[in-house]
Amino acid sequence: MSVTIHFAASRDDWENYAPHLRRALAEAGLDAALSPELGDPAAVDYIVYAPHEGLSDFTPFVRCKAVLSLWAGVERIAPNPTLTQPLVRMVDPGMTESMVEYVVGHVLRHHLGMDAHILGQDGVWRNRVRPPIARERNVAMLGLGVLGSSAARALAALNFPVMGWSRSARTIPGIDCRSGEDGLRAVLARAEIVVLLMPLTAETRDLLNAERLALLPKGAVIINPGRGPLVDDEALLAALEAGRIGHATLDVFRTEPLPPEHPFWAHPRVTVTPHIAADTRAVTATRVIAENIRRAEAGEPMANLVDRGRGY
Ligand code: NAP
Ligand code: GLV
Repeated sequence: MSVTIHFAASRDDWENYAPHLRRALAEAGLDAALSPELGDPAAVDYIVYAPHEGLSDFTPFVRCKAVLSLWAGVERIAPNPTLTQPLVRMVDPGMTESMVEYVVGHVLRHHLGMDAHILGQDGVWRNRVRPPIARERNVAMLGLGVLGSSAARALAALNFPVMGWSRSARTIPGIDCRSGEDGLRAVLARAEIVVLLMPLTAETRDLLNAERLALLPKGAVIINPGRGPLVDDEALLAALEAGRIGHATLDVFRTEPLPPEHPFWAHPRVTVTPHIAADTRAVTATRVIAENIRRAEAGEPMANLVDRGRGY
């Protein structure tokens, strides 16, 4: 099988992915012409895509059978009206491992109150405050997809009681799964630590607004490696100032990079991580891309197609 693939992403991405992608395509039995340079768009069979300044008009790609995103979150490409080709989002085992480690690490930091000992070493022996064990700490996972369900399972394996929330009703052994507005309210009312792993869509924008933040137990911690606009920034800052929210660990922001003057940087109870929770890993992700192209060429359904109506 011979296919023409246009790699539409940054120069750094090209250098990172190209050798792995060539290898993965060959291992999948595909004879591929792969290039970051766009020749005749009408000759392109597949586009491997990440958001960058370049490609925004998909109209000339009349033969293109699919656009394969290097990112899991597709909010920047899914609404593009010129994109009529099938869109595939990234589901990468390496990315999932990375997200599970990020979530477990930051949940444990707050659960164990690690900062008190790491940051406050002053020669005073304070051993009165002992953290509860995991089974006494309620954690909520908003979003139970590939990443949310994997992180939820890892937390449950450490004995955290994990409640999860998703759009459709789900059953995950060991997780108290809820859906709908009532389900969200019930989950938030008990959550001492809330993790957001949802896509950004019209429905999820400002999901954690002032009203929903007020449902959380006093001192609750928010961990957001999903997307910045899932949380209303002003409402979060107000809840932090009022002491209703204990801490926010944020990996994603409305504007990235987060501007130096943004109040999150200087806030003593906000931790900023620079969108590093779970990068796509070239070795594992290129195998996923190659397998999807192989499937399409063999007339089999591709995995991880985006539902454009839902936006994810
Ligand atoms: P996914 O498999 O598509 O899962 C999305 C989950 O969110 C599903 O459980 C879905 O419900 C739920 N959801 C969507 N809209 C909802 C709504 N309106 N109400 C309630 N639940 C809703 O996505 P994923 O692979 O887990 O990735 C999640 C997000 O993580 C990505 O979209 C991206 O924004 C973010 N991400 C961040 C990083 C980083 O480095 N910070 C890296 C990768 C991804 P259903 O189960 O009913 O469909
Ligand atoms: C990263 O944020 C991604 O969506 O892959």
